[in-house]
Amino acid sequence: MSTNNVWTHKGTFLLAAVGSAVGLGNLWRFPYLAGENGGGAFLLVYALTIFAVGIPILIAETMLGRNSRRSPIMGMRFLTRTHHTSRAWESIGWLGAVSAFVILSFYSVIAGWAIHYTGLMLSGGLIDADAERVAASFDVLLASPPLLALYHSLFIGASALIVGLGVHRGIENGLRILMPALFVILMVVLAYAVMIGDMAAAADFLFTFHLADLSLEGWLEAMGQSFFTLSLGMGAIMAYGAYMSGDASLTGTAFTVAIVDTAVALVAGLAIFALVFGAGLDPAEGPGLMFVTLPLAFGEMPGGTLLGAVFFLLVLGAALSSAISLIEPVAAYLVERFDLSRPQAVSAMVVASWALGLLTVFSFNAWASDSPFHELFGRSPFAVLELLTNIFMPLGGLLIALFAGWVLTHGEVTKEMRTGASWFRVWRLLVRFVAPAAVAFVFLRSIPQVQGYWVPAIGAAVIVGAFAAAHSFLVERHGS
Ligand code: PFF
Repeated sequence: MSTNNVWTHKGTFLLAAVGSAVGLGNLWRFPYLAGENGGGAFLLVYALTIFAVGIPILIAETMLGRNSRRSPIMGMRFLTRTHHTSRAWESIGWLGAVSAFVILSFYSVIAGWAIHYTGLMLSGGLIDADAERVAASFDVLLASPPLLALYHSLFIGASALIVGLGVHRGIENGLRILMPALFVILMVVLAYAVMIGDMAAAADFLFTFHLADLSLEGWLEAMGQSFFTLSLGMGAIMAYGAYMSGDASLTGTAFTVAIVDTAVALVAGLAIFALVFGAGLDPAEGPGLMFVTLPLAFGEMPGGTLLGAVFFLLVLGAALSSAISLIEPVAAYLVERFDLSRPQAVSAMVVASWALGLLTVFSFNAWASDSPFHELFGRSPFAVLELLTNIFMPLGGLLIALFAGWVLTHGEVTKEMRTGASWFRVWRLLVRFVAPAAVAFVFLRSIPQVQGYWVPAIGAAVIVGAFAAAHSFLVERHGS
C-alpha cells in the first residue's frame, strides 16, 4: 500500500528537510569538532564533502522516497520488485530504521541536557560562576540517572506527540511554528555575539586555514559530520521524500537544504566562538563546549542569563525538529505494514527507543566505566551506540548512492531530476563513483579492526573507481 500523504505545499519538503538537517549536529557538534580540529582546515573538508558527496546522496535519497511513495522499508521492497533486482537492497530501509531508532535513543538524552540548561539559565544559577563551578554543575547533571531520564522522557515525549498527530496536523504545523522561531532566535544570538563577543577572533579561527592543523582524524570527523548534519542514509529524508510534491525540484531543493544547513552551522559556530573568545576562554573544549564553556561565557556577560536561556531554547527546538524526522520513517512503516493507527505506531517506536536511551543515561554514571558493555566492547553503551550509527549511516548512504546510480533506469532518473544533461552526468558520476569511494573511506576507517588496512583498501578503491569512471564516460560519449 503506498502512502496517501503528500505535503500540503510544494515547498513543505524543503522546510521539513531543513528541520531534519538543522539540529544538535549544527549547534553542538559542528562548533566543537571545528574547535578541536583546527577551525578553517576542518571547515574546508567539511564543505567539500557536503557538496561533492552530501548533495548527490541527498538527491538520491529524496528520489528513492518520491519514486516509491512509501516508507523506506516498504519503498525499497517496492523498488526491488519493480526493478527485478535483489531483495538485499531492502537492507537500505532496514538499516535506516535501525539507525533512526538508535540515534533517537541518544539524541533525546543529549537534547534533554538543553532542557536542564534552559532552566539553569532562567533561574540565574550560573551567574558569575567560576569555571570550576560550571564544570561541576555539568558533572552533577551527568551523575544523576533520574534527572537525565526525566529530561530524556520529556524530550522524546514531545517529539512523539508531534509525530503522533500526523504528517499534516503534527509535523507540518509543528515545523511551521518552530522553523521561523528558530531563525529569529539564531539572528538574535548572532546580533548579540557581534555586539559583545570577539567576532574578529571567531572569524579568524573559522576561516583562516592551515592545512597542517588538520589531522587525519579531523579529516574523517569532517566527513562523518557532513553525513550526520544532512541526516543522510537513515531513511529520514527518504520518508519525507515520499510526501514530496512531484513538481518540486530535486536538485534545487537539495542545494538549498545543504546551503541553509551549512549557513546555520557557520552562524552558530561564529556566534559561539565570538562569545567564547570574548570571554577569554578556550574553544577546543570538545563536547563540553556548549555545556561548560558557553554557559561560563553567558554567566559573565551582561544580559547573559536571558541570552543563554534563549540559546538553549534554540538548541531544543532544533533538536525537536530533527527528532521528529527520526520517528517518522519507522512509524510510517508500522502504519503501512501492520495497519497500526499512527498513535500506536509512534508509541511502539518511541517507547522502545526510550528504553534503549536508558543505556545512554547510565553511560554517564552507573556504567561510566564498569558495565557488561565495557567487558564486551571495551567502551560505554553510549560509545557503542554512537559507533554503530557511525557504521550504519555511511553504509546506508553508500547503498543509496549505488542503488540510485546503478539500479534506477536512466529514464526514471531523468524524469525525476528534470535537469540538463550535463548536471545529470555530473550527478551520476558523483553518485556512482565519487560518493561510494568517499563513503567507503569513512566506513572502513570507522571499523576499528580494519584501521590498519584502510590506506591500501582506499587506494585500491580509488584506482578502480577512477578507471570505471573513465570507462563510463567513454561509453557515454561514443555510445555502445
Ligand atoms: N541532522 C541532525 C543534526 O544535525 O542534528 C541529526 C539527524 C537527524 C541525523 C535525523 C539523522 C537523522 F535522520
